[in-house]
Amino acid sequence: MAARCPGIQFAVVDSDAGRIAAWNSDKLPIYEPGLEELVRSQRGQNLSFSTDVDAAVRGADLVMLAVNTPLGQHGQGLGGATDLRCVEECARAVARAARRSTIVVEKSTVPCRTGALIAKILQQHGRPGVEFHVLSNPEFLSEGTAVRDLLQPDRVIIGGQADSDDAQRALCSLYARWVPEERIVTMGLWSAELTKLASNALLAQRVSSINSISAVCEAVGADIADVSRGCGMDSRIGGQFLRASIGFGGSCFYKDIMGLVWLSESLGLHEVAEYWDQVLRMNDSQTARFVRRATQAMGGDLDGAQVAVLGFAYKAGTGDTRCTPAARVCEQLLARGARLAIYDPKVPERQIRDCLAPHEAARCSSDRRLRICSDAYKAASGARAVLVLTPWAEFGCLDWARIHGLMAQPAYAVDGHRVLDGLALEQLGFRTVSIGARSEYADC
Ligand SMILES: NC(=O)c1ccc[n+]([C@@H]2O[C@H](COP(=O)([O-])OP(=O)(O)OC[C@H]3O[C@@H](n4cnc5c(N)ncnc54)[C@H](O)[C@@H]3O)[C@@H](O)[C@H]2O)c1
Repeated sequence: MAARCPGIQFAVVDSDAGRIAAWNSDKLPIYEPGLEELVRSQRGQNLSFSTDVDAAVRGADLVMLAVNTPLGQHGQGLGGATDLRCVEECARAVARAARRSTIVVEKSTVPCRTGALIAKILQQHGRPGVEFHVLSNPEFLSEGTAVRDLLQPDRVIIGGQADSDDAQRALCSLYARWVPEERIVTMGLWSAELTKLASNALLAQRVSSINSISAVCEAVGADIADVSRGCGMDSRIGGQFLRASIGFGGSCFYKDIMGLVWLSESLGLHEVAEYWDQVLRMNDSQTARFVRRATQAMGGDLDGAQVAVLGFAYKAGTGDTRCTPAARVCEQLLARGARLAIYDPKVPERQIRDCLAPHEAARCSSDRRLRICSDAYKAASGARAVLVLTPWAEFGCLDWARIHGLMAQPAYAVDGHRVLDGLALEQLGFRTVSIGARSEYADC
């Protein structure tokens, strides 16, 4: 935004001093293609990073709340409530600091009607005479393509209540500096909040839908790559999000669907809640089925078996491992007694160990049950099988003949994302198992 609005000052504030120090350093706290260049070009111009929330809010006409909204309370029933404590805390901080009328924008993904909660807090804690207008402007960026998604969004949604027309216009005019007008959509506050939850639910549902078909493919001898292509060429269906995989991950899909399920239950819409809950159950079962097939291919007994894992991030193009299905696969393999050697091009060792920390092997770097490797060849050395758990393009370009030579024989390649050329690997002597295709080594 700072790069597209040169005349406007953007102050990013966060209570986490470590993160802010990283934003002000050469090593940014997150990896996103193109982000480093953008931050370098704007930092010190119209973009600053600090922990001084008060000062930033005091000088602002518009405040975006983009804090974390994790999954909170889990009840006996379906779904889970969103933990809104950070949003509430921010609203109180904004109310205390603001000296003039301020537009407060929900950027975080929140349950429906959170806007009313924010407005109430602002009203209760704000100074007399200071007006607030609450808008919803959900963020649709996708990790791995975040910069591109922000610069060329499919749409920008801006929701507000009837008395917020001026505030909505002000936010629209900010985006209009680089987003075509027809892509900026205004609507009511609750509709904007729900659009975000519904979008994530629909995307995750597509993943679970194609994954359910991949199980049928494996059973009947069809190939999910062909079925996906054939379905996706129908313009009513479209080809995106139709790639079979070990399941979806990331910080958003799981918690947002849990939130939608919780919301539906709380509205007495039990069938709706069950419908969306099934998307999550399908996701878990896909990961479990992948582990069963890999185990069966390796002979059924993994006790002491050396397994190479390529990829740990929840998707390619990011170092994010929140809710990564790779962790679920690794946990299940460790529980079956396998020894893992993991390589991911973007995820540091500490992060992988933290994700797997419930297992004691993750706590000590000298524990031979879990090694984190600096390249794919080291990970594959001595392994009985190589498992691809993140669809990094570089995995398709590895020297697979060299990998085959490094592995124990017979060597298995188990592809959870269809990034490998199965036929070429078979010619090199690999025994292959691919998601969504029948394999003579795994029939479960
Ligand atoms: N990550 C994504 O790709 C993505 C995409 C769309 C929407 N979202 C939504 O955006 C929101 C943020 O997601 P994220 O991945 O950036 O979360 P995150 O946990 O990585 O970052 C949130 C930041 O907010 C800070 N924070 C919390 N409370 C604060 C307070 N009171 N004052 C100052 N700083 C505070 C934390 O220190 C943290 O650095 C979530 O609601 C998420 O669902 C995320």
